[in-house]
Amino acid sequence: MPILLIVFLLYASTVLADERLGLPAIAVPQDKALIQLGKDVFNDTHFSANNTISCASCHAPEKAFTDQRATAKGIYGQIGNRNAPTLLNVAFFKQFFHDGRANSLEQQALGPLLNPVEHGLESPEYIEQIIQQNPDYVHRFSQVFNIDKDDIRAEHLAKVIAAYERTLIAGNSAFDQYYFGRDRSKLSKSAARGLLIFRRKGNCANCHEISMNDALFTDNRFYNLGQGFEKMEAILPNFIAAIKQGQNPDDFPLTAEQRAELGRFNVTHALQDIGKFKTPTLRNIALTAPYMHDGSIKTLEEVVDYYDKGGHKNPYLDSAIYPLHLSAQEKADLVAFMRALTSEQESAAEPVQE
Ligand code: HEC
Ligand code: HEC
Repeated sequence: MPILLIVFLLYASTVLADERLGLPAIAVPQDKALIQLGKDVFNDTHFSANNTISCASCHAPEKAFTDQRATAKGIYGQIGNRNAPTLLNVAFFKQFFHDGRANSLEQQALGPLLNPVEHGLESPEYIEQIIQQNPDYVHRFSQVFNIDKDDIRAEHLAKVIAAYERTLIAGNSAFDQYYFGRDRSKLSKSAARGLLIFRRKGNCANCHEISMNDALFTDNRFYNLGQGFEKMEAILPNFIAAIKQGQNPDDFPLTAEQRAELGRFNVTHALQDIGKFKTPTLRNIALTAPYMHDGSIKTLEEVVDYYDKGGHKNPYLDSAIYPLHLSAQEKADLVAFMRALTSEQESAAEPVQE
């Protein structure tokens, strides 16, 4: 091998290792044309009923791929019931949405396009028409997938979007440099104490996992913390009685807001999943306020207070949520730790280019 090539490969591997420090190894799409097509579609408002909404409307690259609203605002200004999560590091997740109702990024991507409250498109055929009306897209989709113009399907759109999303990788936070890079200068004393509280007294790592060689800060599981559950409380006994008697939960009269609070139950129809939501990653958490599935908590300080008081009591509250009795200093330390989970700006804002 020519010496220059070896030097280049060594250089490339250290750069990559850095950007991904603290993240598990994963195959990132390499095909530049495919990724660029996904990025263009992601930012294109033509894929909405009135040409006003793109994926980036709610997952804005300059806002760490969120909209910084409590709940998302879609087409014709319609407000949804859920907080838009960041797309940074979605490549590592196994289930998508707060209730885990999609199992792959490809499956997920068509959801918002066809959702009447989001992009508001009528059908996959309608998506295909939008592509066909744009000669540049027709050309690029045919090339990328090596198919005839007439064979371009909505699934191809899902594939390019998913490929782009898989490049949104952001590791190498101060925490990663401290913990995995063993550079003790990277965390303040307060943040370092916060890490200990996160793992022990706070019991946070029980769900927001830190592994031996990497940390996704999620266990990909679902828990009831009680957040937002008060909206369901009045109706809960009747609801449970009806389900136990065999009524189809979809037929039970609930407002859209109440139904959204059922969480994982909406996917499994198992009573023990009532009010459960997916453990979100905490990477880049300082950039993605407000918090929780309904965006109801505004600051990290308030999140810590919420855990400290033991969540919101309800019959389905998880047993790992209990009063923590943290001192003011311990609370501040936990917040300082979470603020150290922000990736270096370049990798957080831009997809990894190879
Ligand atoms: C109107 C705002 C809005 C638009 C437009 C939108 N999203 Fe979302 N997105 C959300 C909300 C809200 C959620 C959470 C919904 C839920 O959990 O029920 C979400 C969830 C997701 C998730 C799951 C992330 C996770 O961690 O589980 C992905 C991936 C995603 N969106 C990608 C996209 C793509 C791709 C597009 C464009 C095709 C798009 N979104 C358009 C608001 C939006
Ligand atoms: C029993 C599992 C569990 C434990 C223990 C736990 N969390 Fe969570 N965490 C979750 C789940 C599930 C959510 C999402 C809840 C929702 O959306 O309503 C969440 C949400 C969060 C959020 C908001 C994330 C976002 O993107 O909106 C933060 C911040 C957070 N947790 C920090 C902590 C801290 C700090 C601790 C320890 C004091 C902790 N968590 C303990 C499961 C847990």
